[in-house]
Amino acid sequence: MFEPGDLWNDTDGKPIQAHGGGILYYRGMYYWFGENKDGNTVQGDVLERVDVIGISCYSSRDLYHWKNEGIVLPAASEDPEHDLHPRKVVERPKVIYNEATHQFVMWMHIDHSDYSYARAGVAVSNCPAGPYHYLGSIRPCGADCRDLTLFKDEDGTAYLVFASEWNRNITVARLTNDYLTTDGCARNFVEQRREAPAVFKHGRTYFMITSGCTGWAPNPAEYSVASAILGPWETKGNPCVGAGCDTTFSAQGTFVLPLIGRPGAFIFMADRWNEHDLRDSRYVWLPLCVRGTELSVRWLDRWDLSVYDVRCGSGHRS
Ligand code: GAL
Repeated sequence: MFEPGDLWNDTDGKPIQAHGGGILYYRGMYYWFGENKDGNTVQGDVLERVDVIGISCYSSRDLYHWKNEGIVLPAASEDPEHDLHPRKVVERPKVIYNEATHQFVMWMHIDHSDYSYARAGVAVSNCPAGPYHYLGSIRPCGADCRDLTLFKDEDGTAYLVFASEWNRNITVARLTNDYLTTDGCARNFVEQRREAPAVFKHGRTYFMITSGCTGWAPNPAEYSVASAILGPWETKGNPCVGAGCDTTFSAQGTFVLPLIGRPGAFIFMADRWNEHDLRDSRYVWLPLCVRGTELSVRWLDRWDLSVYDVRCGSGHRS
């Protein structure tokens, strides 16, 4: 069962460390990448932080049991100027597979501890579970980049979607065919101050769920729809329904996972940050219901994938 907000251990019995994460599906296996925050929380320049340890990866066939594949992109302790030095910020890693180059490509938010560096870092591997080789960071289209996500479309075109201009807009950047840099940017959500984007597609519609900008503190989510990923995007409202919807159930979105073999079934993945002890931040995974262009996410104390056996909505037990 999924138990949103409860401690979630891996198959070794240790708490999963994959915060701000995302999931790659490849050849029958799900790979969950996220920030390893298994260190002490200290006061940073602007907010509480944990020194960078690296990006963790866990693998699973069933989404319930996760095997620790280790730190697939470790911090670089020697050089204080390195993007992956422990005193930097490395957040929200996402991985997609490039069919042409046969490479797994990871993008992540790279920053200084005062969040003024604001770049997108990229790393590659020949295997889904790494190790990943860090290539460097860019300012996509010359712009600052903070919270980010990746989206790979059905035609293989991939996009980097990120909060830009000090979080004043969300920019959608097309990636080059090798997915290693950006090739044109479209600014959306101008002056709306959104972050934590999660993008998915159902039918011909693109959906984006974002959060407001309140650091580790939760706030209401918002979703938008588009018929072209570069925009325009139409904002529809808060996808969360019921008690807790004003705070996204005390969490902040990070990814929407389409379930393989179950068209129309999606999991909304969010982080319940614990700013006093960031390593103990919890995962809130909930079924995401899509009806036409309407989304809804309801709280469930415990659930399993059988909720998707019943028609969207009526299958939600609470
Ligand atoms: C949030 C952001 C997180 C992290 C946090 C602390 O707003 O979504 O990824 O950066 O602030 O700075």
